[in-house]
Amino acid sequence: MTQRILILGATSAIAHAYARLKAKEGAAFVLAGRRTDMLEANAADLMARGASSTALVAADLADLSAVEATMAACRAHSATFDEVLLAYGMLGDQARAEADLTQARTLIDVNFTSAALWLLALVKEAALTPLTIVVVGSVAGDRGRKTNFIYGAAKGGLERFVEGMQHAHASGRVRIVLIKPGFVITPMTDGIANQGGPLWATAEAVAGDIVKAARSGRPCVYTPWFWWGIMTTVRNLPRAVFNRLNI
Ligand SMILES: NC(=O)c1ccc[n+]([C@@H]2O[C@H](COP(=O)([O-])OP(=O)(O)OC[C@H]3O[C@@H](n4cnc5c(N)ncnc54)[C@H](OP(=O)(O)O)[C@@H]3O)[C@@H](O)[C@H]2O)c1
Repeated sequence: MTQRILILGATSAIAHAYARLKAKEGAAFVLAGRRTDMLEANAADLMARGASSTALVAADLADLSAVEATMAACRAHSATFDEVLLAYGMLGDQARAEADLTQARTLIDVNFTSAALWLLALVKEAALTPLTIVVVGSVAGDRGRKTNFIYGAAKGGLERFVEGMQHAHASGRVRIVLIKPGFVITPMTDGIANQGGPLWATAEAVAGDIVKAARSGRPCVYTPWFWWGIMTTVRNLPRAVFNRLNI
């Protein structure tokens, strides 16, 4: 049966790599994002790779007052979905956001508040069919650190939110999967000087892990897998040691 997939943030490099894998299986897509030209280009690419259909919804997904209207626009193309990938996000600039509360608020609204509202909207309107929601979090949410605690706190808050929803739906038809990537080579990290070292993954590798995680329904998946070990170590570092690190 054709899988119906909604992608929130379909212009993301990770989301598009995931969509390419699902296009090969003949999935039908609703692609939501705010850049129409890129949504159109991605849709054409997915059709060329085997997608059975694509529909576009152009919207600012972090507009808190528009979540339900945008959800309705997505459902106008497909009444139900089998899978939703919530992928949009914003790394921002920690120093600037500390100095400018408007930027700090944007980072929190994009990465936490709007994502939480989307999860509520998706579940509230879920029909009686099974639904798998894959949420892209980040290893940055595992421990607050000085160079990116605003983004990290938003992703960490999102993890708590997902955890609570997983608990609420533990025996229901809605499965929520949290994916926690480490460093990924995408436009989001273009500004990072050492992009591409041994700890860096490609969007394609992360997308492969997303497909597997959605299939298995595991509640939380680090990608690549070795970030589980790294973050367990980071989380357990004594404060006296952690405070000496310039991370
Ligand atoms: N790259 C990494 O190292 C890394 C690591 C851990 C987690 N992640 C997470 O992975 C996810 C995907 O990021 P990526 O690496 O694929 O980077 P990316 O290619 O830069 O994708 C981020 C996407 O989010 C979209 N977006 C941001 N704010 C939006 C809004 N208000 N409305 C609609 N779309 C919005 C951007 O759209 P515009 O082009 O319109 O701005 C962009 O397409 C994000 O949640 C990110 O936090 C990334």
